[in-house]
Parts: sequence; structure tokens; C-alpha cells
Amino acid sequence: MNTAIVGHALRHDSALRHASGEARFLDDLPEPAGTWHAALALSPVAHGRLRGLDLPEGVRAILPADIPGQNDIAPIGHGEVLLAETLVEHHGQPLAILVAPTRDAALRAAAAARPRIETLPPVLSIEAALETGSFLVPPQIIAEGDVEAALAAAPHRLTGEFRAGGQEHFYLEGQIALAIPGEEGEMLVHSSTQHPTEVQHVVARVLGEPYHRVTVQCRRLGGGFGGKESNASWVAAAAALAARVTGHPVKLRLSRRADMAATGKRHPFLYRWQAGFDEEGRLLALDATLAADGGHSLDMSGGVVFRALTHALNCYGAPALRVLACAVKTNHVSNTAFRGFGGPQGALLMEDVLHRAAAQLGHDVESLRLRNLADRTPYGQRLEPALTRRVLAEAKADAEWDRLRAEAASFNAEHPTLRKGVGSFCCAFGIAFGIPHLNQAGALVHVYTDGSIRLAHGGTEMGQGLFIKVAQVVAEVFGMPVEAVGLAPTSTAEIPNTSATAASTGSDLNGWAAHAAAMAVRDRMAEVAARHLRCTPESLRFEDGHVLPPGGNEGMRFGELAKLCWRERVSLSATGFYRTPDIHWDAGRMRGEPFFYFTYGAAVAEVLLDTLTGEHRCLSAHLVQDCGRSLNPAIDLGQIEGAFVQGMGWLTSEELWWDGDGRQRTLGPSTYKIPGSRDVPPVLRARLLEGSEARAGALFRSKAVGEPPLLLATAVVNALRDATGVPSLGLPATAERLLAAIRNR
Ligand code: MTE
Ligand code: MOS
Repeated sequence: MNTAIVGHALRHDSALRHASGEARFLDDLPEPAGTWHAALALSPVAHGRLRGLDLPEGVRAILPADIPGQNDIAPIGHGEVLLAETLVEHHGQPLAILVAPTRDAALRAAAAARPRIETLPPVLSIEAALETGSFLVPPQIIAEGDVEAALAAAPHRLTGEFRAGGQEHFYLEGQIALAIPGEEGEMLVHSSTQHPTEVQHVVARVLGEPYHRVTVQCRRLGGGFGGKESNASWVAAAAALAARVTGHPVKLRLSRRADMAATGKRHPFLYRWQAGFDEEGRLLALDATLAADGGHSLDMSGGVVFRALTHALNCYGAPALRVLACAVKTNHVSNTAFRGFGGPQGALLMEDVLHRAAAQLGHDVESLRLRNLADRTPYGQRLEPALTRRVLAEAKADAEWDRLRAEAASFNAEHPTLRKGVGSFCCAFGIAFGIPHLNQAGALVHVYTDGSIRLAHGGTEMGQGLFIKVAQVVAEVFGMPVEAVGLAPTSTAEIPNTSATAASTGSDLNGWAAHAAAMAVRDRMAEVAARHLRCTPESLRFEDGHVLPPGGNEGMRFGELAKLCWRERVSLSATGFYRTPDIHWDAGRMRGEPFFYFTYGAAVAEVLLDTLTGEHRCLSAHLVQDCGRSLNPAIDLGQIEGAFVQGMGWLTSEELWWDGDGRQRTLGPSTYKIPGSRDVPPVLRARLLEGSEARAGALFRSKAVGEPPLLLATAVVNALRDATGVPSLGLPATAERLLAAIRNR
């Protein structure tokens, strides 16, 4: 039996069942007898006054007046409605819930609903909202030095403006919830959610019940990517409301079209900047504005803006700067968390600045990167430029940078219409929730008398491999094989008051909480074993399924000891709790150390561009990501590859499009292009930085991996800058935009 478990490349606990189809997602659960189905009637216009709603006969329609609690689904604060009352604020906004015994009947009824809306002019651009000062998140500023004076004194001054688009999550499993009413106002909600506790709170608020009457459960999600943090909550609340009103169990599964219309996306950003450089290409001053399109309501835009702001300088620095970030209110669907949570948008700023500076000052962008690396962020947290240099150098060595550049040059000399380009990227990504109090987690560990273990924690499994990682931690503590650890669905009844599984902190937080729970049980078991084996508890080893005293004496099997503990009436169950130490933030001064540590990553990408059509392919990508001492290298590599391809989609092909009336017209895969298997670069080499070790206090010295590698796709954009010869590109760099960029060069 091999029990050196943490650090091993074990496969995802559900890998085989994912492949065979045996893994049960919410819609695969048997429906309770009498289950009804819900569908949403959505607004056909972006902005207007709701005068009435004509509904088809013969189905149950649920309107704001039917809400027993509050018509309020805000994840933070108050004032975001589940169903529009008088004001309609975006195309696709839910107006009513239609409930019927079959899903088809509910969908037909929703499609037949005819709202009467007096239209108002919609606000559809970041510029328009900035002009009227319509902010969801007022400007937050990080400043240092006298930026005006530094700009005025700089030998070279540059300005830039560009934008990055949003992104639809396109989780394979759409938003879904099943609400089962019980006695006395109880509600059991199965939800595909990253945040069971928030589902509990929002359902309770809408139903007007105390939290204890609502139980939320989730075994797994078919992908979340941030899209099932706040948005899963209102979907579940709609199902629970319908269940309360009808008395039936109610399932709400959004169609892909409704999902894309009614749920939030990654925030699009508009960037405006002014920079001063010296002759050597050192950044002397930077004055930048980052404005996010928050959509019609706040949701989590405050957090997204904060992360964009804290990542706007990425791993670089400037002696004088002022970076302002805000989110404006528009008549778009309310934008939300998406892998990276504003960090990827923040890090785009310096790429534009450095590439423009390189072009204008006649420098190589690679030398500008190295020249401008910083050893601390503008808000005062320490960075490790040596690690940035290392990941970048290793990615370049893996890709054979010089050979790649030379080959691209000779290829381009021979081909009149095809062009190759090569680009690099490196980044520092902060790990922790930006809001300090969210950095906490709980776990519950039972040992049964046969020595098998049940593990529950507050994190959700969305494909990222959290459950296997936390199981590895618990198996390690008990010296048991990972198969001895049974994985429980996430439930608010078992672990209360949790944070979302988000900000890449899932394994850090829940791993430590589970570690604490397992250690508490192990300590009690060790007391019992020590008495029987005549040694001290501290001298015992839990190894290979055994508990062993010192000196090579025979110990006992773990299961035997569990039974012994039970006979001696010693508890074999414990909760564990963890809160991240050391993090702090002073919002008045905009200074602090909001992150527990940074992860570093770098990439090199090579593209081939057709200058006649604007189409391109990424031919190769070499990625190096610092995962510290990885808990599970197989899982981490999968995360790096997946995040990179998802990032490529965001930056190159996925374009959300609204018509002049503010109707979203990209509501399915026919009009919205996510990467397919053939968009994956034929050469995709990802690896973990070797010999790396996270700071003391990190879980087995590992580092988080969920979001950071998404940023590495920026290397593809940089390769496209190289191929087009255009240093500043609008994003996503679709064929259309690239063609225009080449024409206007
Ligand atoms: N990987 C898969 N397969 N599916 C997902 O939905 N979500 C990402 C990332 N990796 C996601 C994923 C996002 S947005 C985050 S924040 C992290 O996983 C959350 O999980 P973790 O904290 O356990 O890494
Ligand atoms: Mo991830 S965007 O923090 O769910």
C-alpha cells in the first residue's frame, strides 16, 4: 500500500465516471414524484417600464407579488431583484416564472408570455456610462509619487486606449436547481453552485425563512468558472419560490439560450493610459484608467474591480503612478465572476503599455519586461522578481525562443500573405479572496469503526479536482490510502457559513480545514493507541494503513484502532476550521497585503496568421506555472492546459455582441465561438516549475492553480501583435479585428 499521497499524480476521483457517463450531475438525479418544471419569461428589450405581462392560459405563473420574502437576490448588500417589478434593465431579464408538470409545457408557456414594455433609451457602452458618471463601483485609486510631474519630466511620453471583451462561461452543464419543499417551510435545494451558503441565504431571503430551514446540497458541477457563484443563487431561488408557491418539487434547468441571456459574464474593460519612459525603456510614470462594464446591477463588480486594480501593474512597477479602476452601470446583463475575476483584465494593461513603448522607442519588448520587473506591488505587497524571471526564462528555453524567432523571420521573408508571430508573457497572480473575511473554511471528518473515513468540507467540486486534493490531505494525515476516504457532497447542513469555492483558494482553505479536522481525530486515536502499545502518542506513526509504535514493534491496523476507540467511547468525529493568516487591507490608504502569496507563470506562444482573412492558429504554446510543491501534479497540469485554452477563447475568438437596441445576439454556439478541440495548439507543453516551494503556512507548501494559468493565453495575443506588427490590439482579436488592424497599420 502506498501512502505517500500528497504530491502524487492521482487521477480525478470521478475521472472514469466522467468518461463513462456514470457521474451523476444534478439533472441525472431521480426526480421526486410530483416534480414540476419551471421556465423563465425574459425581457425582450434592454431598458423600459414594465406595464403588464400577458400570460398564456393553463399554467401557473409566478410574479413578484407571489414572493413571500423579499424580491432581492443581491449576493452582496441589497437591491437586486429576482423578477423585474416596474423597471426592466437588460435584455434577458427574468420577468416571471412559469411552472408546469413538464419542462416542455413550462418552456412553451415562457415563450408565449407577452410583456407590455414602454421602452426607454438603453445605455450600451462604457463610454456613455462614463460620460454621465453612472458608476456601480465608484473609482478606486492606487497612487504613488507625483505622476503629473513624472510624466512631464519623462523623456518619452506615450498614450494608449484599447478594450477587452467579456466572456460567456459556457459551462457544459447549464444553470440548474431542484427545490424540494418539506414540512414547516423547510426547503431542500439541489443546486449546481460554487456557493451553497449563498444559495441558502438567497433562497431564505426570497422565501422569508430563517437560514436553518433551507438546506443546499451539491455533489458536483459540470463546470462553474465563476458563473455559478452569484448566478446559481437566483436560479435556485426561482426554483425554490416555484416550489413554495405550488407545493411541488420544482426543477429549473435553463436552456442554453436563456442561460446566455439571463446570467452574467466576464466584465468587458475599457483602458486609457498615459506613460512616461526613459531612454532605456524604464517606465517612469503611469496614469491609467480601467473601466469595467458592470451591467445593470452590482453583483460582485466591486471585487472584480479590486482584483483588476491590484493586478494592473502585474509583475511590473513604476516610481510614479495613478491607476483608477471603476465599474459603470449599463443596460447589459449584470457581469460577474469569471476565472481570474478581473485579474486577467488588469494584467492586459501593461502588455499594451510595454508593446507600444517597445514599438515607439525602438526596443525589444523582452528587454522592457526584464527592465521593469518590480519587487513589490504599488500597494506595498512583496513580489519575487527572481521567480518571474525564472518562469519566463524556462518557458523561453522550453520553446527554444531564439530558434522560434529566427524561424518566424525566415518564414515571413518567404511568404507574402502568411505571417508567423512569437510572443511571451509572464505574470504574478495573488492568491486569497480580496475581502479578507471570506478567507475561511470548515470541514467535518468521521472515522468509522472499520477504519473507513468520511470527508465533508465546504468546497464544491466543479471539475477542478478539489475533492481528490482534499482527500489526499486527509489520507496523508491518517496514513491511509486515498480510496479509504469517502467524499461527501457539499452541504450547508454539514458545513455552515462557507465562502464560495472561488479565487482559486478551494484547496488552500478546505485542505487546511480538513487537515485540522483529521488531526483532531488522529490525536484522540493516538492517545488510545499509545495506551495499548505502551508508548507516547507523539512517537506513533500513522502509515500504510497501520498505527506503528517506535522501534519496529508491531502496531495495529488503522481499522482495529478505530474499533478500539469506539469501545473506549472516544469520539471519532471532528470539525476543522481554518482562516488565512497575515492578510490585511487598508481601504482608506489603498495599501496592504491582501494576498497570502503570489503564483508565477510564463508562456511562449507561436501563431500563424493569414493576412488575407485575418484568421490565425496558435501553432505552439509552452507554459511554465509555479504550483509550489504541487498537491497533485496531474490535476494541476489539467488545470493549466484547460485555463490556457479558455483564456485563448476569451482573447481571440469569443465575441459577445449586442445589437443597437441592446439585444444580445450571441446566444448560442452558432454565433459565439468557444475554442474547439482543433483550436488547441498542436504543440501544447505545460509544466510545473520544479523545485518550487510556497511560503511557510501554505498547505504542504503548495500553491493554488485554478485561475492563474488563464492569464498565460495573453502570450497568444502578444504573438499576434508580433505577426501583425500592430503593438496594440482590440480584444478579442477576432479575424475581423486582426484584418482591420493589418489594413490600418
Ligand atoms: N476547472 C474546471 N474543470 N471547472 C471549473 O469550473 N473553475 C475555475 C478553476 N478551475 C473551474 C476550474 C475557477 S473560476 C476557480 S476560482 C477555481 O477552479 C476554483 O476551484 P479551486 O479554488 O479549488 O481551484
Ligand atoms: Mo473563480 S472566477 O473565483 O469562481
